[in-house]
Amino acid sequence: MAEYSTLKVDLGDRSYPIYIGQNLLDQADILKKHIPGNSALIVTNEIVAPLYLKKVEALLDGIRFESVILPDGEQYKNLNVLNTIFDALLTHHMDRNTTIIALGGGVVGDMAGFAAASYQRGVHLIQIPTTLLSQVDSSVGGKTGVNHPLGKNMIGAFYQPRAVIADTNTLNTLDDRQLSSGLAEVIKYGLIKNANFFDWIEQNMDALLQREPKALAYAIEVSCQTKADVVAADEKESGQRALLNLGHTFGHAIETGMGYGEWLHGEAVGAGMCMAAKMSALLGWFSNEQVKKTISIMKHAKLPTTAPESMDEKQFLDLMSVDKKVLDGVLRLILLKSIGDAVVTSDYSKQQLAEAIKLAYTD
Ligand code: NAD
Ligand code: GLY
Repeated sequence: MAEYSTLKVDLGDRSYPIYIGQNLLDQADILKKHIPGNSALIVTNEIVAPLYLKKVEALLDGIRFESVILPDGEQYKNLNVLNTIFDALLTHHMDRNTTIIALGGGVVGDMAGFAAASYQRGVHLIQIPTTLLSQVDSSVGGKTGVNHPLGKNMIGAFYQPRAVIADTNTLNTLDDRQLSSGLAEVIKYGLIKNANFFDWIEQNMDALLQREPKALAYAIEVSCQTKADVVAADEKESGQRALLNLGHTFGHAIETGMGYGEWLHGEAVGAGMCMAAKMSALLGWFSNEQVKKTISIMKHAKLPTTAPESMDEKQFLDLMSVDKKVLDGVLRLILLKSIGDAVVTSDYSKQQLAEAIKLAYTD
């Protein structure tokens, strides 16, 4: 039997549950009760399919289903590959009552989600995230989309799933680098909203790196609850949801500048959060002690803390200027007042931003 907890993303008649626990992929009733029609398309990739596709297919007894297997990697999160999902939907005559099931990490989830948002102007979506990063962040909250060569996640839609099913057993097959990438987003929740959680992560980092089930389950639950609360309050990011992008403006610049897939998303965000901490200190908002704590927790999580040498300051400034937080030509950044307290701000000068980028190359 599966042991699990259930959280809720409260969005009125579009509210949905997040199931978190072990052995959820052995439990047909959880998945099936969120499939309204009699057909489904499972979207997964070439790494996840051999591991978990049969398990999910076995849960769909009585439902007409097909599967589409995407190539693996951030470099395939684009419009061309997205089109193969539409090809499958049309080839198999999937109608408006079809459910798309995203089985994989954030890349699969974002692409399958965007396909669900746009196929026949919207079909049902269920997220089955299989990486730590997707279990704590990308499967929840309805951001979907693909990259453009000139900017990360630049094409997409807000589209909420009917359910998120996070089977923590799937994390056992994840490699260590991917685990650390997910930990970056866990640390993010502590930094932006919850100093106690930040302390808990610091104290339990070894347990998390060793994948102790209780520690992982707790980290996933607190992360999802934090995200669910933020999304319920500001679904379309007109205010506080932007806080979830701490470290992301700089991180997205690294991902785009280095070439998609070179740095993992969480690695780029980890270095980005260190840059945000240094810039916050430069503005007099954050203490040097807190900068040290931020760098130290990233190092403990085995994440990079400095910018790649192969990117220069101008490249950063150019790439950061196409961020989605640019409004009317002004780039808003997420900075820190203290650990557990982040703000969205454009209250900095061009020189201060340039100075912070310089500081990002060393600890
Ligand atoms: P990913 O989807 O590329 O998965 C990482 C790697 O792990 C891939 O090689 C994948 O095939 C493999 N994998 C997946 N599950 C596995 C498992 N159980 N065992 C072994 N290998 C497995 O990357 P990710 O870190 O999950 O997600 C990153 C993506 O998520 C980025 O594109 C980022 O932009 C996006 N993202 C979206 C949101 C959102 O709100 N929509 C939030 C954060 C990140
Ligand atoms: N990952 C940022 C957000 O979902 O808003």
